[in-house]
Amino acid sequence: DVGESPPVRRLSEWDAAELRPLAGEYGTPLYVLDLERVRQNYRRLEAAFPDADVLYAVKANALGDVLSTLHEAGAGLECASAGEVQRALAAGAPGSEIHYTAVNPPAGDLDWIVDAWADHPDLTVTAGSTDTIDRLADRGYDGRLCLRVNPGIGAGHHEKVETGAAAKFGVPAERAVDVLVDAADRGFDVVGIHAHVGSGVSSKQRDAHREFVARMGDLARDVAGAVGGLKFVDIGGGFGVPYREDETPLDLESVADATRDALGELDATVTIEPGRYVVADAGVLLTTVNTVKDARETTVAGVDAGLTTLLRPAMYDAYHPIRNLTADVSERGSSRERTPQTVAGPICESGDVFCTARELPRSERGDLLAIGNAGAYGYEMATQYNTRPRPASVVLDDGDVRPARRRETIADVLRPEREALPSASADR
Ligand code: LLP
Repeated sequence: DVGESPPVRRLSEWDAAELRPLAGEYGTPLYVLDLERVRQNYRRLEAAFPDADVLYAVKANALGDVLSTLHEAGAGLECASAGEVQRALAAGAPGSEIHYTAVNPPAGDLDWIVDAWADHPDLTVTAGSTDTIDRLADRGYDGRLCLRVNPGIGAGHHEKVETGAAAKFGVPAERAVDVLVDAADRGFDVVGIHAHVGSGVSSKQRDAHREFVARMGDLARDVAGAVGGLKFVDIGGGFGVPYREDETPLDLESVADATRDALGELDATVTIEPGRYVVADAGVLLTTVNTVKDARETTVAGVDAGLTTLLRPAMYDAYHPIRNLTADVSERGSSRERTPQTVAGPICESGDVFCTARELPRSERGDLLAIGNAGAYGYEMATQYNTRPRPASVVLDDGDVRPARRRETIADVLRPEREALPSASADR
């Protein structure tokens, strides 16, 4: 029963013999995503929240294979942009299972969404300001409306992702009743309230999360009383996963219990929007060592992935486990000495390192390294800085390997610029 799958899949549990040939066939850097693990993670969430609607947060990993896998498993999709809504529709999700969360939405997004709403009248728009509601009304939208509130309490793995108290997100909770009564008067179909406390909530932050859902429960009762009922209360995503070997996983059942308690007798469905929890440990990033040198206090292993491939260590000082898949083999015979190593990419910034002086088997040129927990916010945050093409992705599915996204070429990176200069392009 996949509902019983282990809550954590460690990097050490991946089969090196399965991963090594992929580097040879598809090259590195390469994202590898195991769809069966995606299904397992989703089913554990469903088991913990049996009465909730689960919307997968597409931003964590928007690969079409992930979206169609989750849609088939029964998930709805939470989308942060018109582009993500296009992906959700392409994956087969009906409008009724798509929520578009509008954060300071560009005009083009609203134009596109309101057009799409004509064909998919059950989609839900989550607005985080009265301005956004007005801009929807200006375009003739009076469909399903959810209000994003700012609950004034945040949590998460880094201050940059603690959204719950950040000014840019949501209408201050104390104004929600007035805003929604007004929206209902203007003819919107008011269906829910929403907040997202932050991303990467750990087991140590359970109290903050409990306080957050308690506030949402109180607010939901006030709003439901004022507008005559709510279909759902969306408590966002944010369920953290362990990145270090010694971290305790967040206990989902206790989060689900606290949420049920907070809502009490209120007749509304709980909606959750997990991203990271579903995909993080389903993905690894493979990268090849191209340079080894002894620096003053550490050995530097230079690799072909960088902050352009996986930004999280540079942006949040995030820890990702690293394993040498080549040394795994030689360790059977003569084991390689472990030394403090700094694994660094090819980008011209000192922050372009995946770890600093971490004990790893001494690297040799040509070694294949795997970087773990790369399934969430990995490829999605990749850039073309330093004119570096973005990497390829493959998916594993029940023993099959499928290419999911080809590697970009330098020509791909250069194309928009060439196309902006039609007269000059002939000479280039
Ligand atoms: N719902 C909303 C409205 C969100 O803004 C987010 C994430 C989620 C759901 C899903 O959160 P999750 O379950 O994945 O924690 N790039 C950062 C994470 C940014 C999260 C942004 N919002 C990182 O790599 O840690």
